[in-house]
Amino acid sequence: MSLILGLETSCDETAASVVKDGQTLLSNVVSTQHDLHKRFGGVVPEIASRAHLQRLWPVVCAAIDQAKVDLTELDAIAVGNRPGLIGSLIVGASAAKALAWSLGIPLIGIDHVQAHLYAAALQDTTAQAPNPTPHPSPLKPLFPALGLVVSGGHTSIYKVTSPIEMKLLGRTIDDAVGEAYDKAAVILQAGYPGGPNLDKLAQQGDPAAHKLPRPMLGPDSLDFSFSGLKTALLYATRGHPLPRNRPRNPSTKTVPNTPRSGRGNKPTFARDASDLTQQQRADLAASFQAAVVDTLITKLRRAIKHLSDSGPRPNALIVGGGVSANSLLRQRVQDFGQRESIPVCIPPLDLCVDNAAMIAGLAHTKLVIGDIDDLSLPVIATTAMV
Ligand code: KG4
Ligand code: ZN
Repeated sequence: MSLILGLETSCDETAASVVKDGQTLLSNVVSTQHDLHKRFGGVVPEIASRAHLQRLWPVVCAAIDQAKVDLTELDAIAVGNRPGLIGSLIVGASAAKALAWSLGIPLIGIDHVQAHLYAAALQDTTAQAPNPTPHPSPLKPLFPALGLVVSGGHTSIYKVTSPIEMKLLGRTIDDAVGEAYDKAAVILQAGYPGGPNLDKLAQQGDPAAHKLPRPMLGPDSLDFSFSGLKTALLYATRGHPLPRNRPRNPSTKTVPNTPRSGRGNKPTFARDASDLTQQQRADLAASFQAAVVDTLITKLRRAIKHLSDSGPRPNALIVGGGVSANSLLRQRVQDFGQRESIPVCIPPLDLCVDNAAMIAGLAHTKLVIGDIDDLSLPVIATTAMV
């Protein structure tokens, strides 16, 4: 049996969790910083790291209290040490090192992207869990599996052979899917945080209202590109940019966070999302969401064929990362799994977005095989999963 305390501070969630035997959550505490970053429309790294510094110890104490364990009962301290914002990662890693050293127990560094794929194996029985449903099976019989990570920083497909062994099959060549959602939410003035708000707006709209591109990058490619889709949404919302030499009219509008054209000037448009009705904005959101999800599903189908042509067919599809909370994606991957006769493992909603339970859970696999770190554990901005 193992009891592991996990810490997660890679971006804008300060989180701590105690997990038993790599599967059962005894606590799962997440302090989100959305309130701090909202007025900037995105995460400000310096604000994020300072907030982690203030919040981490109270969050750790809450996780220990809720788990009803004593610090001295812990077998290891795990921390997400890559990828992420460097200043934010340093806060979590420093705290993890101090705890591991003072308790005299192993320190285990965890790749955040790998941890997202592990989240589907966790069983959330804490009082805070939205639907405390036990997960049906451990991950082991599901390997080799196909893994899809969809988050704010990553959109990647992997061949997964164990919780810590995976081979990259395809990834985004520009925006990550969560990033595309966040930018689409800015275009549609859907508010912050972008992804969940756009998801809600899309549920009131008609996905066939606008024909937006499904970027495929060639007939066999397993890579993704979402920047063209984002621009198509921008033009569908605001019309095409006005010619640059046309005299500026006070009623024309520029938009924050959209690509600059020419030498420094932001493009000018005749309208913005505030000129549209709620239904028109919802139709655009639904059309965007349909294009994103169609693209992801097509790539999954290709990846299954690719793996089946070159070796064993995957036994399961494992999905993780913040965008796996998306309502349409959740429904479409389940339909896909049924059609392809492949079991789908997707985390419960509270474990899709950043959390420390996935960090503590995955650390069990490493502890069992003695794959532990020392106090020289570095923090690294990029994932090892490339
Ligand atoms: O995994 P995550 O919490 O952080 C990273 O590792 O990046 O993912 C955050 C991303 C954000 O871009 C957020 O907008 C997106 O996940 N997201 C969603 C939804 N919930 C979160 N995107 C679409 N629909 C959602 N329901
Ligand atoms: Zn994440």
